[in-house]
Amino acid sequence: MDSIHIYGGNFLRGETKIQGSKNAVLPILAACLLIKGTCVIRNCPRIADVYHMQNLLQELGCLVSWAGNTVTVNALHVNDNRMWGESVTRMRSSVMLLGAMIGRLGDVTMAYPGGCVIGSRPIDIHLSALRKMGAEIVEEERFFTAKARKLQGMEQELPFPSVGATENVILAAVTAKGTTVLRNAAREPEIVALCGFLTEAGADIRGAGSGELVIRGVEELHEVKYTVPADRIVAGTYITAVLAAGGSIFLENAPAGQLEALLSVAEAMGGCVSVNEEGIGVDVIHKLKAFPYLKTEVYDGFPTDLQSPLMAALSLAQGQSIIEESIFENRFRVVPDLQQMGADIEVVKNKAYISGVEMLQGMEVEAEELRGGAALVVAGLAAQGNSVVKNRHFIERGYENICKDLRNLGADISLA
Ligand code: UD1
Repeated sequence: MDSIHIYGGNFLRGETKIQGSKNAVLPILAACLLIKGTCVIRNCPRIADVYHMQNLLQELGCLVSWAGNTVTVNALHVNDNRMWGESVTRMRSSVMLLGAMIGRLGDVTMAYPGGCVIGSRPIDIHLSALRKMGAEIVEEERFFTAKARKLQGMEQELPFPSVGATENVILAAVTAKGTTVLRNAAREPEIVALCGFLTEAGADIRGAGSGELVIRGVEELHEVKYTVPADRIVAGTYITAVLAAGGSIFLENAPAGQLEALLSVAEAMGGCVSVNEEGIGVDVIHKLKAFPYLKTEVYDGFPTDLQSPLMAALSLAQGQSIIEESIFENRFRVVPDLQQMGADIEVVKNKAYISGVEMLQGMEVEAEELRGGAALVVAGLAAQGNSVVKNRHFIERGYENICKDLRNLGADISLA
């Protein structure tokens, strides 16, 4: 129960289609709160984090329904301004609702959001940006209240290009009074997706994908139909899987333009990457080379979400690799499990020193968080013999059907 079984050590061969993006759809679902009508969101991944967001929207009064991978949200009646259930404290992205709720109701009481164990993940940047737009925020020990009769557009610069804080400012600014200029904004593709959704709903946003956003507040947004783009992190995870296990795979819909940092690492390691309009192909025939030094960075640098899966692949590459984690301080929690499988990794502060080994050994291991869990699956695919990855619910926060996808790629893997 709650496990994934893998019989590893075989080449991957095959193709699979990449699901819709978790990090794009979560703020888009929050944005639905701003629209007094029905929004239809296609290609929505059926994953735990989306179900948590659905629960939150329903608790606030929205009607949410599913048909296949299409989710429909009706936010005509938003009648509760309190968010403090388990769905808030368990999921970091619940903070996304803050900007939208102030924009919609002008008054919200919220428990501090939870999330994975990958770091302290404070929300100070979110709160100070919203304060600058006129929100009065009172912080208590377990919850805070935020009030603003009408948010005010403002010029401001974020101290760090936080993805979540940028999304919250966008959600607050689209119906605020006047123009917001946000400098040092996050440039992640998920910001571009959110702005695309809001623009289709009638928002006036310039500069999405650059470090400076200019948002002119509009009176009202209207109903919209939108298709969620493919998940670059899921695609990236499967690329690390073929780097680790070897073989030849094709990932339909994989967004090559958003994965350049990973693709250049894959090529430097000796993988052969081919890109066409339909997706990304990766062939790995020979033993891979180590990647001497890699640092996680904001987009378009190497994504922190792919750091652990790549580490699993690097643990089998010839030579020494160094990974420096610069975004989240606690993102090496997967290392003891990889070591148990035979990986040679030493962690010193925020750097991991990885000396490639000849082989990993299948083992019973335990996921502690989403991407670390995915890294254990990657390691299990390359390892000799049977592996059991326990706590698969962490992995299901972000991967709609990792076993089916990997079986399409020829892996011997199943839920248990
Ligand atoms: C989002 C992604 C997550 C990804 C991360 C970085 C979603 C749902 N999650 O998370 O998968 O790993 O971007 O690309 O989209 N910070 C503060 N104060 C704040 C906000 C952030 O100190 O108010 C710090 C965080 O603790 C962290 C760093 O800034 O060290 C990056 O956080 P941020 O960019 O906000 O990431 P998230 O939006 O939480």
